[in-house]
Amino acid sequence: MHVLVDHPCVQHKLAIIRNVETGHKRFRELATEITQFLCYEALKSVKVREVDVQTPVDVAKCKKIDTDIVVVPILRAGVGMLDGILALIPTARVGFVGLYRDEETAMPVSYYERFPPQVKSGTCIIIDPMLATGGSTNAAIDRLKDAGAGSIVVICIVTCPEGLAAVQVEHPDVAVYTAAIDDHLNEKKYIVPGLGDAGDRLYGTSH
Ligand code: PRP
Ligand code: URA
Repeated sequence: MHVLVDHPCVQHKLAIIRNVETGHKRFRELATEITQFLCYEALKSVKVREVDVQTPVDVAKCKKIDTDIVVVPILRAGVGMLDGILALIPTARVGFVGLYRDEETAMPVSYYERFPPQVKSGTCIIIDPMLATGGSTNAAIDRLKDAGAGSIVVICIVTCPEGLAAVQVEHPDVAVYTAAIDDHLNEKKYIVPGLGDAGDRLYGTSH
């Protein structure tokens, strides 16, 4: 299952973040802003409990989020989306998966993982700006499921049909929330038109 967040506020920011002229400072700000909109959508059906709140006038029936939220950025580019989520859910816990794509094969290479125990009972949100072949996202979902996670959603900024299909085949229980489903992958497995190398653009490491 996937959800394309086609709201004009998201699409406007996407138009700027994609632009090759957008520098790393603005790119980082936009990644944060877009992530907040996507997270808002992704948590639409999160578990809540009813609470009574005393207002200055009377008691109001209110709702509070009733599950631990565990955010899991895929290193390194996923870290560029972390502040956006933590601004929305300041009490979220954070786990990390370290993965990079081998430049020749485009297969994910795992180098780090660290999760809080709440992955077993809470809602896990994997964040990575790019879901291209889906290899990295699927590897992160595998790691989380190995650690006992039951409830997992993925938030990315740009994806493509190939990547969505790969996640759907391996993990049909995991929903992907995205701001864009682009056309295709090129011969280097980059998303076309995409936004380039998200990690390099976030951290200013491109030449
Ligand atoms: C990028 C991106 C994803 C992955 C997507 O990371 O941030 O993690 O590629 O590609 P896939 O869907 O084909 O696996 P990269 O490997 O460039 O590492 P980085 O975040 O350290 O730059
Ligand atoms: N990783 C990126 O950063 N961009 C792509 O288009 C594909 C993988």
